[in-house]
Amino acid sequence: MPPMIASNKVFLVGPMGAGKTTIGRQLAQSLRLSFLDSDHELQRRTGVDIPTIFEFEGEAGFRLREKNLIDELTQRKRIVLATGGGSVLDRESRQRLAARGTVVYLHCSPQQQYERTMKDKNRPLLQLEDPLARLQALMEEREPLYREIADIIVSTENRPMQSVARDIVSRLTPRSGGASGSNNP
Ligand code: S3P
Repeated sequence: MPPMIASNKVFLVGPMGAGKTTIGRQLAQSLRLSFLDSDHELQRRTGVDIPTIFEFEGEAGFRLREKNLIDELTQRKRIVLATGGGSVLDRESRQRLAARGTVVYLHCSPQQQYERTMKDKNRPLLQLEDPLARLQALMEEREPLYREIADIIVSTENRPMQSVARDIVSRLTPRSGGASGSNNP
């Protein structure tokens, strides 16, 4: 028997540039759920952007805010939640994500992440000389953490976001077409 996959509470995890926000919006629309993005929520609440939070509070300050927000938002009902790429670093956050909903890991290569994020100034961790090397290092550190809590793993490499969203819907609601299952590919 495949594990039960709940489709009314979906948490998207994965690296910067994997497409969590774009896919999350489409997924929420298809599943008729509310869409939440932890970074957007943090910006809305603090009234400043992510680089400003990093500037004034450091990464540690940002992580603490992120952890509290993940705790709060994962308790909401009927949501698709796009999380920040580093939210899985915290052990308690990983436990909360895994226990409170269906975790979808959106996977793509550092090269593809780089292509999707290189013009974006809103990601403080990538504002350095060699962002590709940083993306590779982050992937090495975090990939096991994404996999550890993933119920479903989907590649977004060279794929239109719409087709990825459709793929996820079919895995979440097996009767509508695709096969359900965890940890494949
Ligand atoms: C981060 C990813 C960003 C944002 C912050 C830190 C990370 O979110 O939370 O810049 O540590 O990977 P996205 O994954 O939505 O870009």
